[in-house]
Amino acid sequence: MSKYWNKLINDIEPYVAGEQPKPGQKVIKLNTNENPYPPTPKVKEALEKFDLSTLRLYPDTNSTDVIKAAAAFDGVSEENIFCGNGSDEVLAIAFQTFFEKKALTGLPVLMPDYSYSFYPVFSEFYDIRRKTIALKEDFRLDPDDYIGVPNCGIVFANPNAPTSRAIAVEDCAKIAEANPDSVVIVDEAYVAFEENYESAVSLINEYKNVCVIRTLSKAFSLAGIRLGYAVGSAELIEGLKRARDSFNSYPVDRLAQKVAEAALLDKAYYDETRSKIISTRARFVKELEELGFAMPPSSANFVFAKPPMDCGTLYQNLRNKGILVRYFNKPVLNDYLRITIGTDEEMAQLLEAIKEEVKNAENS
Ligand SMILES: Cc1ncc(COP(=O)(O)O)c(C=O)c1O
Repeated sequence: MSKYWNKLINDIEPYVAGEQPKPGQKVIKLNTNENPYPPTPKVKEALEKFDLSTLRLYPDTNSTDVIKAAAAFDGVSEENIFCGNGSDEVLAIAFQTFFEKKALTGLPVLMPDYSYSFYPVFSEFYDIRRKTIALKEDFRLDPDDYIGVPNCGIVFANPNAPTSRAIAVEDCAKIAEANPDSVVIVDEAYVAFEENYESAVSLINEYKNVCVIRTLSKAFSLAGIRLGYAVGSAELIEGLKRARDSFNSYPVDRLAQKVAEAALLDKAYYDETRSKIISTRARFVKELEELGFAMPPSSANFVFAKPPMDCGTLYQNLRNKGILVRYFNKPVLNDYLRITIGTDEEMAQLLEAIKEEVKNAENS
């Protein structure tokens, strides 16, 4: 509390990011869904060629070269893409652009009850009413639950976080079709972690109200540069630019633009790393199940696993052993750990530690 802060800042509960290790601290970090592999070697080449003298100049406001590379990657036109400083920023701008303030409408933005915990924070911060829609008991999102519910917009992650479950693109289309006056934001941060994944980007020509949000943080191993983008109809993209230019005209710096472009142009490397993560996940899930864990089927680079022992104790004991996973101390979620898929070696070390903990719990 401070008398210098306004009511909003005094009242708000900010988003809490996963624990960051202290500089120099050695841990196995499986708590923020980062990619365990380095970005493509093309990124190194791009940085080596980078002309440092250009840093005196402001960057290209539209990130044109990144847009070109992203448009080729996603098979859309350049007018369908908007870049920002991480998908968190793109989401924040999308909330401000597409959803209406409480004072102007009684209508809420709809979101699943268990989803990315930034969505409720954005709705508080931008003063937008919200209504949470319960997932099914097995964490499935049922598109029918989004039909006939008055709203000023809809947002969900697909695959969802922290639950890891995905819905089919036809189900996203069903939601968009039933809500033609609202923008439907499909946050695809984790979409790449299925072998033959389908993206809601394929819907944007037919459904002018679908806004897909992508990030380079996960499948492209570039959480450190902060680059996210939106894909949608030209009308939606124009709206996002109006909001950006009322807030920060240069959201993506020159270095990030060069790095992002290089990564987007190397689809072969992207396919290679995501395949490795998908294979590691399959092996890890099998081993966890043998140890008595239960979890929904994962389409993401993490699993949402319910251990056969007290979850909070397991989280703490793993932390004491230098292994960070994510634990949400909230009803229902506190029965589960969200575990990022790392390298095979990291997962083997984690499994060793888990086996020890399960054995100790059985003997106590
Ligand atoms: C569902 C979801 N959306 C968006 C983000 C933000 O990603 P970015 O690093 O692009 O800001 C995350 C980060 O973990 C996430 O889990």
